[in-house]
Amino acid sequence: MELKRGVGPWLCLHHLLAAGVWKAWKTYVEDYEPPSDGQFSKILVPTVDVVRTTWLLSTVMGAGKPCLLVGESGTAKSVTIGNFLGSLDAATNIILNINFSSRTSSADVQRAVEDSTEKRTKDTYGPPMGKRLIMFLDDLNMPRVDKYGTQQPIALLKLFIERKGLYDRGKELSWKNMKDVQVVAGMGPPGGARNPVDPRFISLFNVFEIQFPSTDNLRTIYQVRMGPCVGRGGGWRCLQGRVVDDSLCGRRCWHCRRSSRATCSSCPATRSARSWATGSRT
Ligand SMILES: Nc1ncnc2c1ncn2[C@@H]1O[C@H](COP(=O)(O)OP(=O)(O)OP(=O)(O)O)[C@@H](O)[C@H]1O
Ligand SMILES: [Mg+2]
Repeated sequence: MELKRGVGPWLCLHHLLAAGVWKAWKTYVEDYEPPSDGQFSKILVPTVDVVRTTWLLSTVMGAGKPCLLVGESGTAKSVTIGNFLGSLDAATNIILNINFSSRTSSADVQRAVEDSTEKRTKDTYGPPMGKRLIMFLDDLNMPRVDKYGTQQPIALLKLFIERKGLYDRGKELSWKNMKDVQVVAGMGPPGGARNPVDPRFISLFNVFEIQFPSTDNLRTIYQVRMGPCVGRGGGWRCLQGRVVDDSLCGRRCWHCRRSSRATCSSCPATRSARSWATGSRT
């Protein structure tokens, strides 16, 4: 399809179906389901961003290609990938989570891969026949840079993705072909403990930038999260929208909401509260 001027922003909000029809992403947004084990870190509120990112992940992973999500901290990269991997058929997919840190070594990565694969033929290894091993590498750029300027786990993974195999660490140093293994990863931009990664390694991935949620999406996330706290009763429920708006858009006078200050002198409610507090009320 030939993209015309102005189609870029349109693509952000719409999905092009095979029939050539545009469908708004927001029509795919499902109701929020709390995680079955109740873990706070696994909470993912469905928003347009989540639906779009999940579609990108499933398209790229479905084509058997490595995928990398890059974005600021708190943009839900880890939970979106985790949620997508959790939705895959457990009978045909084995998930291997590796959280990278500054102490992760290339031997740690190789051990994790070897523990999840088995020998198929003389020099071919892979997950049990009929299954696919998906490695989820979180915080990919955390490993420390050694004195030669190399991040060792990254150098090993570059070989692994590019040549689809590894060298055995035994005496023989024999080559092991790895079959049916796929990689998906997430990382934040360099800075702090995160290091710039070899661009030749990054070029092996389909890379997507995850933007911070828009105010509308943030409003949805906060409102859904506050739901169980305010219950179904009318009193607290009516405050929910105001609390969310005030958290997102800066503080307003709680009483009259006209002033941008937390309390404003023109608001009669604030004036009377202040006079009570200072004892000047007669
Ligand atoms: N739709 C959503 N968008 C953004 N964050 C969400 C959403 N739903 C829930 N969250 C919550 O936001 C928090 C941040 O998520 P997550 O840890 O996945 O971010 P991250 O991008 O991986 O950050 P980091 O780069 O620090 O690892 C989590 O607690 C998650 O539950
Ligand atoms: Mg993360």
